[in-house]
Amino acid sequence: MGAVVVVGTHWGDEAKGKLVDLLAQDAELVIRYGGGPNAGHTVHVGESTYKFHLIPSGILNPKTLSIMADGMVIDPATLVREIETLQGVGIDTSNLRISHNAHVILPYHRLLDQLEEKLKGAGAIGTTGRGVGPCYADKASRVGVRMGDLIDPKRLRERLTAALPLKNAILTKVFEAEAVELEALIAELTPLGEKLARYVCDTQALAGEALEANKRILFEGAQATMLDIDGGTYPFVTSSHPISGGACIGTGVPPTAISEILGVVKAYTSRVGAGTVPTELLDERGDKIRERGNEYGTTTGRPRRIGWLDGFALQYAARVNGLTGICIGHLDVLAGFETINICVGYTKNGVLLKHFPAGDVCLMDGCEPVYEALPGWPEDSIDNVTRFEDLPANAQAYVRRVELLAGVPARFVSIGPRRDQTLLTPNSPAPAQLFASPKISLLTEK
Ligand code: IMO
Ligand code: MG
Repeated sequence: MGAVVVVGTHWGDEAKGKLVDLLAQDAELVIRYGGGPNAGHTVHVGESTYKFHLIPSGILNPKTLSIMADGMVIDPATLVREIETLQGVGIDTSNLRISHNAHVILPYHRLLDQLEEKLKGAGAIGTTGRGVGPCYADKASRVGVRMGDLIDPKRLRERLTAALPLKNAILTKVFEAEAVELEALIAELTPLGEKLARYVCDTQALAGEALEANKRILFEGAQATMLDIDGGTYPFVTSSHPISGGACIGTGVPPTAISEILGVVKAYTSRVGAGTVPTELLDERGDKIRERGNEYGTTTGRPRRIGWLDGFALQYAARVNGLTGICIGHLDVLAGFETINICVGYTKNGVLLKHFPAGDVCLMDGCEPVYEALPGWPEDSIDNVTRFEDLPANAQAYVRRVELLAGVPARFVSIGPRRDQTLLTPNSPAPAQLFASPKISLLTEK
């Protein structure tokens, strides 16, 4: 069996959690490979709504092992709160595993995230303020604290003793903030480490064993393609690798193990934080979509910026992620528009661009979207549809147009937040079949 990766194609909040929740029912392992509490996943099951920032959405399935892998940055206080909330509503968390290599977001990372943003003034990124960037910066500078350190009192003291002089110099001399006191920090972290210790292990080894045993692995992407630190709209990006390649970097699973890469596309575009959004709608059409789609951040509550679907960005996302299929979400939100625009390219200084200008925000500036106008479908016409074929013809045509732009089959279409509001397209195999990988035989077996 192979591995399936779920990635966001634009700037996040594509409802990846919903697809992960659906596929997790056939997966034996669900692995989150990057990011931290900057992510916000809302999953609806029956009448209940669950909001996660750190824990993989797969935790709702008692048969799957839910792994928080090496590539993640973990705020232990947030994680303990999420675990206790889940246990409080009767959800078993004994299947959670946390990599000993995942980095710990410390209180000074959160503080530095906020202080740095303030100092940047007009150039601020609009981060979630959760300490994600400063934690990854410490990882790269090799002064980070990892989960294996957090649960070992001796190592925790050693790592913090090494890191604090540098951190305190920055806090006191650059920001004129208070220094962090070693003993107080250890006293705050020790009970969190004790609560999390039972979950911490070598998750690379676990994933390796699962591959050898031909188990079905699902990678749960957080953030999205345009927020990738290299492939996204730098500097308005996050500090990790949300693209499909990140699933290998952040877990120790090789690229050859992956059989399917599903891109989750919102039927329109949304973004929180700063940076250019060429298809942004600053009029009442954007407001209508924001209200209908409840487009307010799960993590920060900020109203999301809204635009028409950026199909040019989608083509780029299909390429850099190596998408094998897409899932189109929030189609219901577009109901009631007479005309729906879809961006099929950009012009800059009157010239049509050949390639999507990712990787440098300066290239994005001044880009004008080229739109194709598609006819809409009436309000309330798709809410209770249970088969793709029963969608209004114009809604089906919209899905086909998005599919053509992506160049890969649309596998699922979501028409509402509930589990039963996901339609399989005629192109969709049963979810379990997505995990099938080609057999490779050794010469010795011939
Ligand atoms: P999910 O998993 C939307 C954005 C922030 C900011 C930039 C950097 O819910 O799709 P950071 O705190 O990561 O340093 O902020 O990235 N951002 C997200 N936007 N959805 C997310 O995650 C995001 N995670 C980070 O708004 O612009
Ligand atoms: Mg979110």
